[in-house]
Amino acid sequence: MKANLFAEKKTTSTTQYDIKLELDVECQRTIETILTREYPESFILGEEGDTGDEGASHRWVIDPIDGTVNFTYGIPHACVSIALQEKGSEAGTEAYRDGYQTTVAVIYDPFCEELWTATLGEPAALNGIPIQVSNRDRLEEALVSVGFSKNEQTLDQMLPVVNALAYEVRKIRTMGAAALAMVYVASGRFDGYVENNIRLWDIAAGGLIVESAGGVFWRRATEDPHTFQILASNRALHEKLASRCFNPDKMWGQE
Ligand code: IPD
Repeated sequence: MKANLFAEKKTTSTTQYDIKLELDVECQRTIETILTREYPESFILGEEGDTGDEGASHRWVIDPIDGTVNFTYGIPHACVSIALQEKGSEAGTEAYRDGYQTTVAVIYDPFCEELWTATLGEPAALNGIPIQVSNRDRLEEALVSVGFSKNEQTLDQMLPVVNALAYEVRKIRTMGAAALAMVYVASGRFDGYVENNIRLWDIAAGGLIVESAGGVFWRRATEDPHTFQILASNRALHEKLASRCFNPDKMWGQE
């Protein structure tokens, strides 16, 4: 990824609010080749397609390039996100609705050479050093990041949230790579990250890293497959942020 930041990029599809690159597919194939060689029984669920036995007891959830639009425009804020999920795992955090739970998570930002890791039940780490979410508890001091997903509907849903929060927090950030926003929460750089209609491969690894760093990873499945509303935050601000983002009368009306 890093070597290709300024290379000419081949797109495979483009909409007004999103871009898909040939390199996304190539990166996923490379990751798949390595994983299936080492773990031939696994199912792989990725942004660029699925492979293997869907009934497997564990699956790899991959976003080969999170922050594709940044990367396409030569902005060095993108990462690789890989989660191992196991079905019916009992220990630790809450499972997703389909019964899978993330047990191992890795997110790598090649531009800053930052590698976040977590294993269920152990502290999260950045480049091997344990990390913690922030302890800021006042909205006035909070840095809150938001994502707009990929269509007009999510703009309609998120803009009122941004409008409300912007007056209450110190700063709003929209940096364009959800997995990085989540590990920035885990590292205490951001105090919260909120998005609607986000896909599992964007959040599976980041969710475990946030929880393993002492934060809260709230998510609710929407009607679309592997799609969620999420709020990742430090513990102290969770309730305040949730009440502003998820009030059914004011915000995401479908609940
Ligand atoms: C996207 C980015 C973006 C978020 C979208 C994601 P991609 O992932 O993380 O910040 O708002 O919901 O789909 O397409 O760059 O892998």
